[in-house]
Amino acid sequence: MLTQEKLIEEIHRLKKEKNAIILAHYYQIPEIQDIADFIGDSLALSQKAKTVDNEIIVFCGVHFMAETAKILNPTKKVILPDLEAGCSLADSCPATDFKEFLKEYPDHKVITYINSSAAVKTMTDIVCTSSNARQIVEYLPVNQKIIFAPDKNLGAYINSVTGRKMVLWEGACHVHNLLTTEAVLKLKMKHTDAKVVAHPECNAAVLAIADYIGSTNGMIKFTTSDLAQKYIVASETGILHQMKTLSPEKEFLVVPSDEGCSCNDCPFMKQNTLEKLYNCMLSEMPEILMSKDLMDKGRVPIERMLEISAELKLI
Ligand code: 13P
Ligand code: SF4
Repeated sequence: MLTQEKLIEEIHRLKKEKNAIILAHYYQIPEIQDIADFIGDSLALSQKAKTVDNEIIVFCGVHFMAETAKILNPTKKVILPDLEAGCSLADSCPATDFKEFLKEYPDHKVITYINSSAAVKTMTDIVCTSSNARQIVEYLPVNQKIIFAPDKNLGAYINSVTGRKMVLWEGACHVHNLLTTEAVLKLKMKHTDAKVVAHPECNAAVLAIADYIGSTNGMIKFTTSDLAQKYIVASETGILHQMKTLSPEKEFLVVPSDEGCSCNDCPFMKQNTLEKLYNCMLSEMPEILMSKDLMDKGRVPIERMLEISAELKLI
């Protein structure tokens, strides 16, 4: 087994040798974030993946993210360190069930959160991410009936801020959904000067006591520019790495830190390790492969999201 130092050296060598680029999400382990060429939230990662001209895209994130990269840049080889890095939210919306559900709402437009399978995206009008969901929903006329899937928490939050009455698919992220107001308030009582930042995948009760709600990138930006010195972070633990790096003088408390519980580590994001990253770059496997038909149909609502986001100057 190679030492961590040697693994890092070898990953850099393979990157050059194979003309590969490493894209990583903010929930990856710090060592992977540090070796990545680009780190971002789902929207930034999609945009970046689309314009990459390297031969190989090494995606350090979860399966739906790598799938999106392949759909947007199909001539590139897209590899993921661990094919088992899935997403409980994407899994909460099986394509066959979703197809049946849609039959009940024939006059509705379908907006789907990017945390979904390619098959679900083929049944979608516009994809969205946590950083543009509100604007994508508001882009449609007020009287347009909408189905929002698969995250009921994000959907309910967007309904509350837009006044829309979107029909929601009952899916959730098992990591964010279990964060409780009790745990946040317990921290808040001890650290009264701390501000609460939350990802919109959290439940409504947690979002109600948040000072800032936004995507991973949005939360990082907020803690960088805001004047508070302490933050309670209602999201996955990986995000703390960039928050601490960008604001080393500030304090970050992860919910529910005082129980010593690591239940807000996303087990799927944490499947990827430096060793698996090295092995996948060496063998160029596992590779994300889909039929041309699936990619062509799945690309339409993702491109629509990118077009609207560009039109609204969100990207
Ligand atoms: P972001 O797009 O905000 O990075 O969220 C991705 C995700 O999976 C959150 O759980
Ligand atoms: Fe999926 Fe939740 Fe993990 Fe994000 S944190 S990848 S939504 S399981």
